[in-house]
Amino acid sequence: METADKPGGFFITFEGPEGGGKSTQIHRLAAALADHGYPVWTTREPGGTRVGEMIRPILLGRQGAPITPWSEALLFTAARAQHVEEVLRPRLERGELVLCDRYADSTLAYQGYGRGLDLDTLRQLQRQATGGLQPDLTILLNLPVQAGLARIPRPNQDRLDQETEAFHQRVRAGYQQLAAADPGRWREVDASAVEERVAGRILELATVALGQAGVRPAQRRSA
Ligand code: TYD
Repeated sequence: METADKPGGFFITFEGPEGGGKSTQIHRLAAALADHGYPVWTTREPGGTRVGEMIRPILLGRQGAPITPWSEALLFTAARAQHVEEVLRPRLERGELVLCDRYADSTLAYQGYGRGLDLDTLRQLQRQATGGLQPDLTILLNLPVQAGLARIPRPNQDRLDQETEAFHQRVRAGYQQLAAADPGRWREVDASAVEERVAGRILELATVALGQAGVRPAQRRSA
């Protein structure tokens, strides 16, 4: 699939370094927007499809076989290609509001900035795999690396959480560069604040973005 045309719904992604509370916040936003009457679908990467959920333990399992950087990038991207085709595009085309915990920017941040793979090649790969599907809004839940990792109990740490601090610092700095390069799409939120406050700020940002795009509850985007 090579087309980059925009489906009708609204696509919000959550990104950021480890321990920023993405999954808690994405569910809070989903509940708040559903209360406002929006048709909301929440999903995650890697995952969101049967194939994606099968790929997930290969990538995140702590006792798995060693994975080379390109193999890692391609597996995350393979799960994403399936997700776009099977879930994201059809739901957006039906006019739904889709909230996704991580998307293509995670591959740029972790495999590009973190592992050092060539960013242009990764970008091109993402375009191919997603047919050019880009989020309408990306929330960057930002917090210092040490603070984020300290929030994840050791038994819950996945293969990537266990990377070096230097790796996580590169990922965090990478996110800041990605956000700075596309300020129209990215909104940064301080994830160190208390949960309620972070949730309030995200709802405010999403509401403004939906309003600017002309997306209203129980109604498809007019443009
Ligand atoms: P996730 O399940 O999102 O949990 P958390 O964000 O709470 O740690 O973790 C997925 C891990 O996979 C996370 O360490 C980021 C990493 N990842 C990549 O390296 N590249 C990708 O393309 C994606 C989607 C995730």
